[in-house]
Amino acid sequence: MTALSTPDVRLHASWAEAVAEFYAVGEEHMHGSGLWDFEHLDVTEAGCRTVVEHLLAQADPATLQPEGRVHCTYYWITEGDEFVGYLALRHALTPWLLEEGGHIGYAVRPSRRGEGHASRALALAVRAAGEHGLDRVLLTCDADNVASRRTIEGAGGEHEDSRNGKRRYWIRTR
Ligand SMILES: CC(C)(COP(=O)(O)OP(=O)(O)OC[C@H]1O[C@@H](n2cnc3c(N)ncnc32)[C@H](O)[C@@H]1OP(=O)(O)O)[C@@H](O)C(=O)NCCC(=O)NCCS
Repeated sequence: MTALSTPDVRLHASWAEAVAEFYAVGEEHMHGSGLWDFEHLDVTEAGCRTVVEHLLAQADPATLQPEGRVHCTYYWITEGDEFVGYLALRHALTPWLLEEGGHIGYAVRPSRRGEGHASRALALAVRAAGEHGLDRVLLTCDADNVASRRTIEGAGGEHEDSRNGKRRYWIRTR
């Protein structure tokens, strides 16, 4: 069963395998991971602990954010005890997020795609956004990203427009 889990060092082994998979297909960016700040990702257990601490801090209102960054809850998409992917739920929109980034970003590890994980994770994230107080969430995808587009449309995304090559969708949370 697909779940949205709090990042946890207990998932270290499958997370490290997943990172290797993303890198092998040239997806170092890992959408929704929140790990762009890490120039060299340390995939040892100690490195995973540092990553987890960093991610958990981003949701904490007490953590000061640099200009242009908003607080964000980072989830790890899991099935049982296995890391399956990343999902980021941003708590607010900056002008750039309103244009292009949206509230929610995600990526499923390459070996686990096409199994419905993104669709189920997005449905859970929409519910979590409502519980967080957001009435609707913005999702965006590149016009040629068919898998992401279908994921968003399958979750009830209503297409508003396209800006700078990004299709923009709103999903009501309640
Ligand atoms: C986009 C992504 C998260 C989808 O994850 P996933 O777990 O494979 O998605 P699902 O299995 O839930 O499938 C969702 C929909 O996409 C379709 N789909 C999945 N992979 C597809 C592919 N390669 N080509 C076309 N459609 C695809 C599925 O058929 C499904 O559509 P349907 O419900 O109409 O049948 C995954 O491809 C990924 O991680 N891509 C790289 C990162 C990325 O692009 N993130 C989004 C940034 S906006």
